[in-house]
Amino acid sequence: MSETPQKRLYIKTYGCQMNVYDSERMADVLRPLGYGVVDDPEGADLVVLNTCHIREKATEKVYSELGQIKLMKERKAQAGGRMTIAVAGCVAQAEGQEIMHRQKAVDLVVGPQSYHQLPELIARAHRATGERLSTHFAADEKFDALPAERQVKGVTAFLTVQEGCDKFCTFCVVPYTRGGEWSRPPEAIEDEARRLADQGVRELTLLGQNVNAYNGGGSTLAKLVRRLAKIEGIDRIRYTTSHPRDMGDDLIEAHGDLPELMPYLHLPVQAGSDKILKAMNRDHTVESYVKLIERIRAARPDIAMSGDFIVGFPGERDGDFEKTLDLVREVGFASAFSFKYSRRPGTPASAMTGQIDEAVKAERLERLNQLLDEQQKAFNAGQVGKLMPVLFEKAGRHAGQIVGRSPYLQAVHAEGAESLIGTIVPVRIESAAKMSLGGVLESSAVLETA
Ligand code: 5AD
Ligand code: SF4
Repeated sequence: MSETPQKRLYIKTYGCQMNVYDSERMADVLRPLGYGVVDDPEGADLVVLNTCHIREKATEKVYSELGQIKLMKERKAQAGGRMTIAVAGCVAQAEGQEIMHRQKAVDLVVGPQSYHQLPELIARAHRATGERLSTHFAADEKFDALPAERQVKGVTAFLTVQEGCDKFCTFCVVPYTRGGEWSRPPEAIEDEARRLADQGVRELTLLGQNVNAYNGGGSTLAKLVRRLAKIEGIDRIRYTTSHPRDMGDDLIEAHGDLPELMPYLHLPVQAGSDKILKAMNRDHTVESYVKLIERIRAARPDIAMSGDFIVGFPGERDGDFEKTLDLVREVGFASAFSFKYSRRPGTPASAMTGQIDEAVKAERLERLNQLLDEQQKAFNAGQVGKLMPVLFEKAGRHAGQIVGRSPYLQAVHAEGAESLIGTIVPVRIESAAKMSLGGVLESSAVLETA
């Protein structure tokens, strides 16, 4: 029984997996202060919007959400209570002052490097004095100051190993909002991974805006992965997101010989025209990307490729867009994310001539998505009949059903005992849909738990 009444914390996460991870860490630093996470902002004591700035739409969503939360804050005040509203994440970093100005109900703004200061900022906001803005960069302080104990549910976990980016793709706000590339020391990462393994985590996804540029303690991502693979209990390792430029030979080699490294790679290419790639400052060509994939596939033939695409970048003509479709056909993607180019203030591309009409962008996006969907379905259909090691994560929606992950990051449903959760079990795949596979446990696994 706790003596202090539980305070209600509502966190809404926008955008990338980095933010999902950061939200978990924010809940961790606030837990000792008596904050427990709730699913509904109505009546909450603290509401955190962990924002994403990457596309304009995402930023606007934050402002409209803030409008709703403000009403809840007013309702709570009328009932004699108090709701604190915090805006965290990349919008906070980029537009801290403006948020406070545009939405007066916001009590504090905290950038991605200052989460460890959240308790203090909240205390200050409660006293209604002092600093309301905390968005300065000090990435190395951030990790050290966060509590070592993380509350993880489940058998898979994210682990941030690198932050920031100094590639300066001309469309992207990340180098401005998250700062330059910075890697955590390998010892700290190993410590955290061991603790996660002790709590039952079997699969780690290493996170970073430019994760394959990892160079903590003079190491490389490949060396880090090999080190983490030795930890008892860590059976699977993934990493995201990578830049084609930083795909080192040793990492490709690791895909060939390290069984813990899962055969799935998210390697954004963005576009299939060299002219557009140059304007994007991507520092690779279509040919160098295709050659890179060939080398990766030579090391690990069954690797599933994933990517990010932007359509309607300034100056993109029909012919350029067709080349993106050609590249998709040539490479073959198991999954992908595609976006309409969104003009981000302050980035070089936002000032470029040749901005593309929204209707043209929408039409291109639809054509690209259609092709990517077909590829995804074909990739999934290609698994039918195969025997796959599946890491079971949770109970399914139907009684007696459990859900897990394939090596290729597909969701896999099967009939099975909940005691299999947290174990890797061979499953014969029998059916495939766009987002998931269905299968049956190999009889030996069923017998073991009978
Ligand atoms: N417009 C559209 N998509 C963008 N992305 C990043 N910035 C923009 C932008 N201004 C996409 C890229 C990146 C992914 C995380 O978001 O494809 O890889
Ligand atoms: Fe943005 Fe480019 Fe850095 Fe990715 S590599 S975070 S797209 S600047």
